Amino acid sequence: MSLMEQIRQFRVPDGAVAIWWLGQSGYIFKSPAGTLAGVDLYLSNSCEAAYPEFDLKRRFPVLIEPEELDLDLFLCTHNHLDHTDPETIRRLRRKDTMRFIGPPPSCEVFRAEGVDESRITPAWPDCRLEFADIEIHGTFALPTDTSDLNHMGYVFRFGAGPKVYLTGDTDYTELLEAAARHQPDLMITVINGGFNNLSPWEAAVLARLIRPRAAIPSHYDLFADNALDPRLFAAALKATAPEVRYIELEHGVPLVFE
Ligand SMILES: [Fe+2]
Repeated sequence: MSLMEQIRQFRVPDGAVAIWWLGQSGYIFKSPAGTLAGVDLYLSNSCEAAYPEFDLKRRFPVLIEPEELDLDLFLCTHNHLDHTDPETIRRLRRKDTMRFIGPPPSCEVFRAEGVDESRITPAWPDCRLEFADIEIHGTFALPTDTSDLNHMGYVFRFGAGPKVYLTGDTDYTELLEAAARHQPDLMITVINGGFNNLSPWEAAVLARLIRPRAAIPSHYDLFADNALDPRLFAAALKATAPEVRYIELEHGVPLVFE
């Protein structure tokens, strides 16, 4: 059975969310009511050709081909290729049943790659959106360079269950603490340090400010020139925010978080 079929058949207990990591910043979340939301799904090899000066060849295969992707919500955090990937969006077969959500530059890519205007919902830091049983708050993220000044993150709430904060790519600023007002139970944080993203230490300091019950390291796995040992984050978390539990995901293996 393909991973997409496994996800569609997976039953999520009440009060929980199921999370699949597809690599880099790409996640699929499933609510107890069965609503499926994907964030920053990079399902191609676009970065390798676009930036030949770096080693950005995928280190593991695409787990779900774009043609197979069947979600309710398709979200992006900002308009860099590993987060808003034109090839992934172009190859989607279900553009007319999914809702596409992202900051305006990502919305431009949705339009350019054939998504109908009626399916697109713009998002920004502090916006509040609701789709089926998923509530979404946009959060602030500090751009990592001048190529895109519209970074953001999200806090999702799945039914009456847990709230999950996804930082998106962000440089460090104390303004990130604003996400604490949503009282997330789980934080999925960029840790790679490269390209001006949060370092493992900065991510641990942010965890101390946000105070989730658990934290998952992200965005360190896909490219050789952006790779890092996540145990650096585990150690920083132990030293800085010992009350926050460290959880490391495996690609394509569901985590049920209550
Ligand atoms: Fe990125």
